[in-house]
Amino acid sequence: MFSLLPTLVFLVSGLAPVLGQECADTSDLVPFWRAFNGAVTDHFYTTNVTEMENVAIAQDGYKLEGVSAFIWTTQQPGTTPLYRLYNQKADDHFYTMSSDELPEMQAAGWTNDTTPIAGYVYPFSVCGASPMYRMFNPTAVDHFYTMNIAEGEAASPSWVNQGIAGYVVLPSVNGSVVLNSSPTPFLAPVSATTSSCATTTDAVPLLRTYSSIGTDHFYTTNATEMNDVAIALDAYSFEGDATFLWATQETNTVPLYRMFNQNVTDHFYTIDANEVNEALGGGYAFDTSTHIAGYVYPYSICGASPIYRLYSSSASDHFYTMSYTESLSASGYVIEGIAGFALLPSVNGAAQTATAGASPFFLPVSLTPSATSVSLTLESALVTTAKPSMVTVPSGPTAFPGTIASPVTTSSGSSLPNSNGATAQAVASYYGVCCVAALIGALAFY
Ligand SMILES: *[C@@H]1O[C@H](CO)[C@@H](O)[C@H](O)[C@H]1NC(C)=O
Ligand SMILES: *[C@@H]1O[C@H](CO)[C@@H](O)[C@H](O)[C@H]1NC(C)=O
Ligand SMILES: *[C@@H]1O[C@H](CO)[C@@H](O)[C@H](O)[C@H]1NC(C)=O
Ligand SMILES: *[C@@H]1O[C@H](CO)[C@@H](O)[C@H](O)[C@H]1NC(C)=O
Ligand SMILES: *[C@@H]1O[C@H](CO)[C@@H](O)[C@H](O)[C@H]1NC(C)=O
Repeated sequence: MFSLLPTLVFLVSGLAPVLGQECADTSDLVPFWRAFNGAVTDHFYTTNVTEMENVAIAQDGYKLEGVSAFIWTTQQPGTTPLYRLYNQKADDHFYTMSSDELPEMQAAGWTNDTTPIAGYVYPFSVCGASPMYRMFNPTAVDHFYTMNIAEGEAASPSWVNQGIAGYVVLPSVNGSVVLNSSPTPFLAPVSATTSSCATTTDAVPLLRTYSSIGTDHFYTTNATEMNDVAIALDAYSFEGDATFLWATQETNTVPLYRMFNQNVTDHFYTIDANEVNEALGGGYAFDTSTHIAGYVYPYSICGASPIYRLYSSSASDHFYTMSYTESLSASGYVIEGIAGFALLPSVNGAAQTATAGASPFFLPVSLTPSATSVSLTLESALVTTAKPSMVTVPSGPTAFPGTIASPVTTSSGSSLPNSNGATAQAVASYYGVCCVAALIGALAFY
């Protein structure tokens, strides 16, 4: 057994799992109703049944299209506000979780809607949540949101793909919620601007080294540890800069935890606190006093690119690279996903802010759905964002009057309205004026 010398095996022992596990309460989910007005080409979404029925449908000529998603009406662990804006001139309702986009959109003619927050969503894929895609039709000036990627594709090219608006819970045809369905990871969350980015010049190289004896990839920002311990004492070979990340927490970044398993000689890095807890129970321990290798973005913003995470079970080795090509050619390793997003290194030793195309096939790694890392994100992300007081929450799930059959009981025992119109998964395309009518006819909605 390869044995590491003292500094690298300085394990912070005796630590019980310290990180919480938090997901939003699925029994608090409510339908995010979707309606469309073909006369002005506007998609409208609300959790407020009265508003949908008495205002959108009765007064403004919108047609109900069913349940687009299930979301929360109060801020729950791991969730972030989905802001709602309206452009009266263009007749466009716009929804975003990016507070950076608010001033941009306001400058372009959108204003806070009567309800400035449509609900709460996860900013990335955790806790069984799936992506809600955002599309935009620049000619008709219409933002369109759907969880059905086929529907989104069918709406192209009139509506162009703008990424992921947030992660929410899929409806099913019987009105229950669907957790842990396969998200379709083709798009990064939408986040337009650079006003809430970590400072590029603060980014430091995460140095990469490898031990063929221990079959261990090891990463640190600490040049002394790299030179004096890993290379000089433990015979690791230096392999260059893996990425540029932050040594202290900056805007929108989250901790990248660092752990070590002495038995199998494996350094393991993750932003997912649930994984940290699992690893602590599975032979890994923190091997630095801070527990953290650095700070990274949890999703692709601000010119950050994906850090791919690979694992070799035969070598018991976690391997991290920003080179997608290298990830494909790493013999014996399987790609586990994206460990986080940070800045690309360049050959001259500086960080780059150009975003490399993320491989569309991988989501951020989260073996066990966890919102904890999201909570950590939100703490920093929300520092500059006032948390507006929320509207009164209806007590319990809301049934849509007149159009919804009797509630069904989910496995969790909560009663949710039967949303026969909630066909976001099943209907390939119900796009535009013609198809809305067809859909409603097909479903015998009225
Ligand atoms: C729902 O919409 C109605 C009609 O617009 C409004 O009067 C009411 O305040 C809304 N309820 C909530 C909880 O926002
Ligand atoms: C618009 O809404 C955002 C988020 O709720 C809030 O921070 C901001 O103060 C609002 N702006 C105006 C002009 O009401
Ligand atoms: C509703 O549909 C979901 C997903 O298809 C399924 O798992 C669940 O068992 C169904 N529930 C009922 C009450 O039929
Ligand atoms: C860097 O590594 C050296 C050697 O392991 C250690 O003594 C020092 O405390 C580390 N510095 C920081 C800032 O962690
Ligand atoms: C490491 O291996 C030893 C000997 O097999 C075992 O007793 C110990 O529990 C292992 N440690 C961990 C943390 O798995």
